[in-house]
This record gives sequence, structure tokens and C-alpha cells, in this order.
Amino acid sequence: MASASFVKLNASSSPWIGQRSFNQRPGSSSRSSAARVSVIRAGSYSEELVQTADPISRTSVSLVKTIASPGRGILAIDESNATCGKRLASIGLDNTEANRQAYRQLLLTTPGLGQYISGSILFEETLFQSTTDGKKMVDCLREQNIVPGIKVDKGLVPLPGSNNESWCQGLDGLASRSAEYYNQGARFAKWRTVVSIPCGPSALAVKEAAWGLARYAAISQDNGLVPIVEPEILLDGDHSIDTTLEVAERVWSEVFYYLAENNVMFEGILLKPSMVTPGADHKEKADPETIAKYTLTMLKRRVPPAVPGIMFLSGGQSEMEATLNLHAMNQSPNPWHVSFSYARALQNSVLKAWQGRPENVEAAQKALLTRAKANSLAQLGKYSAEGESDDAKKGMFVKGYTY
Ligand code: 13P
Repeated sequence: MASASFVKLNASSSPWIGQRSFNQRPGSSSRSSAARVSVIRAGSYSEELVQTADPISRTSVSLVKTIASPGRGILAIDESNATCGKRLASIGLDNTEANRQAYRQLLLTTPGLGQYISGSILFEETLFQSTTDGKKMVDCLREQNIVPGIKVDKGLVPLPGSNNESWCQGLDGLASRSAEYYNQGARFAKWRTVVSIPCGPSALAVKEAAWGLARYAAISQDNGLVPIVEPEILLDGDHSIDTTLEVAERVWSEVFYYLAENNVMFEGILLKPSMVTPGADHKEKADPETIAKYTLTMLKRRVPPAVPGIMFLSGGQSEMEATLNLHAMNQSPNPWHVSFSYARALQNSVLKAWQGRPENVEAAQKALLTRAKANSLAQLGKYSAEGESDDAKKGMFVKGYTY
């Protein structure tokens, strides 16, 4: 664990060297403050993360604010190769690099996507990949003012000593991997760990999830990446919405406890929570207004207003449910930007329209724009479900889903 003094050691390469550190009081010289306080939060990129050069437009706007901008949200396509294989298998395609490339290229070159999408989370393969025409995938994003992001966790493994729960790997070597991702154009990161309600969750699993997220967030910020903090509370189980509320409050309180202990700069993070809903096998469904009420109550109790954005995951909800719930959450002002970072709830109808056929690419891109626009309207609180297709209404929950 870190020593009692948190003085930043690698500031020599900082473009911000000589500037005021994040928690140094205005007007105090660094020498006098160093004599009094030796705590320096965030790192050499703290100003870039929060308030200076946007890497795409090179204007003076904030990176987090670019991602959390009105009417836009995140397209998550960071499935590991194994999970991407499941998506491809659903339309009869083999899990080859060429098929993954064709699918991701289709998504990232959708004309007009940047109007509704502010960031896209990629898997490592895509971050370093080009289109079949030789253009870098990250350049396709930048052209549309979409910030490239990267999944940095290494997936879930069983957590010994717990109730059959899991923990998320990936801290070893994370600093050097993050620096490479930054050089490749990534400006934000994602780390997804999960908490299972039917398994308890045990105190050990919650603590491990929260500590891992906090270490990851500190390392990401130190390497110029805005961390998305994602403790997914799985939909699995027959529990009530009140149980989910209780667990979500417990999980987020631990996450913020450790984020603070690791000196993570709250202004430079984004959250990716699950919505507070009943378990997938609970006897009663909750309507969007109830889900919005519970979810916002939980977040207002646990998330400081310094955090700029809440970007929900869809977690197996149908495309339409995920959009309706987001719409319900934006019916009155919130302390943070409340938006989406969906994978399944943006990709389902795209895959169905595509079927792996080149002649369907245009129709598939149209399907993506339809979903992206619907969620953009939901972010603005102006969505109507009228005319939604039957496919958009189909749930996508899979028990014990892995990502
Ligand atoms: P969905 O739950 O929306 O499929 O995505 C989860 C995720 O973490 C994608 O980055």
C-alpha cells in the first residue's frame, strides 16, 4: 500500500510542471505549501483530464465534459475476443479477426454517429487496428469528434474465500499499458468488475471490487486516461428492487471510500453504474419511473456532485427498456450528466440488420443511428417509444453473463 506521503514522483515529464497542483491552494507558493502539506492528488495529467486541451478539437474544453456532453453518450464495443465471438455467432459468423474487424469498422464508420455518440470504448485489438482501407479505427472516431476509450481490465476470475464470487484482474503492468494506450490515442479507460446479489455479496467481494476500481482509477489518471468506474451489480437473482438499492448503496459507498483514499480526482472520473432494478427473476417488473426514482435516490446518496458524468450500462435490458429508463432519469435536472454507455442495448438491432452481409452494412448503420438517436433524446429527456420495433423490445438478459 502507498506510504503516508503521496508526493508525485514522476512529474519530470509533466507538461504541467511548475503549475499549481490539484489540491494546492490558489495563491500559495509550492515551496510554502510543500512545507505544510505533502499530499498531491492526481498527477501530471490532472489539468488535461479536467479542463484543458481537448485531444480532438484542440480547443480549450474539458475531456470529461466532451464525453459527458448534452445529447451524447458512449458506444461500448469493448467485448473481449471471446465475447465478440458470441455476438458474431448469433448471426452465424466465425470468430475471426477479419470478421471482428468488419463488424467494428461498420460501427465506427457510421456516418453522423458523432452527433449522438461522444466516446467509444474499444478492445485492445480495435485500438491498434485499421479498417480494410488502411485507416486507423481511432482516426475514424476522431473525425467525428468521438473520444476513443479502452477496456483495460483483464477480466474476472474466481475470488478464493468468497461465496463463489469473482474479482477483476489487470493491475499488474497497468501503468505501462495505459501509457501505450494513451500514445495510441485513447483518452479514457474502462474497468468492469461485478457484484452478485444472489452470492451475498460478501464483504470480501465488495471490498476487493472497490479497492481494485480505486487503484485502477488512480493509475489511469496518472497516465492521462479518464477512468470509467464500473462496479456492475448483476441483474441475476429473484431479489426485490429494495434489495438492489441496499446493495448498490453499500457498493458505491465503498467505491468512493477507496477512490478518496487513493487520491483519485473526482472531477476527472466517469461512473458506469447498473440501474437499480429488481432481479431478473423477481416476480414483479418495475416501470421506468420507479427505476429512475430508486436509481437517482441511490446515486444522490452516494455520488458527489464533483463527478461530471454517470454513463449507465444496459446490463441485459432490452434496447427499449434501457432507453425508456434513461429518459425517465432525465425528466428533471440532475447534479451530474446522466447518459448511456451501452453495449448490448446499442448493438442488438445492428447485428440483426447486418447478418454479416456487405449489402446490409448501410441498413445496419442506420439501425445503429436509430438506437443512438433514441438514447440521445433520452439523455435530453425527450424520447418517445412510439414506433419502436419488436426487436428493440426484446430483453437480452443472459444468466451469469461474462464480458
Ligand atoms: P452492456 O451491459 O450495456 O451490454 O455493457 C456493459 C459494458 O461494460 C460495456 O462496456
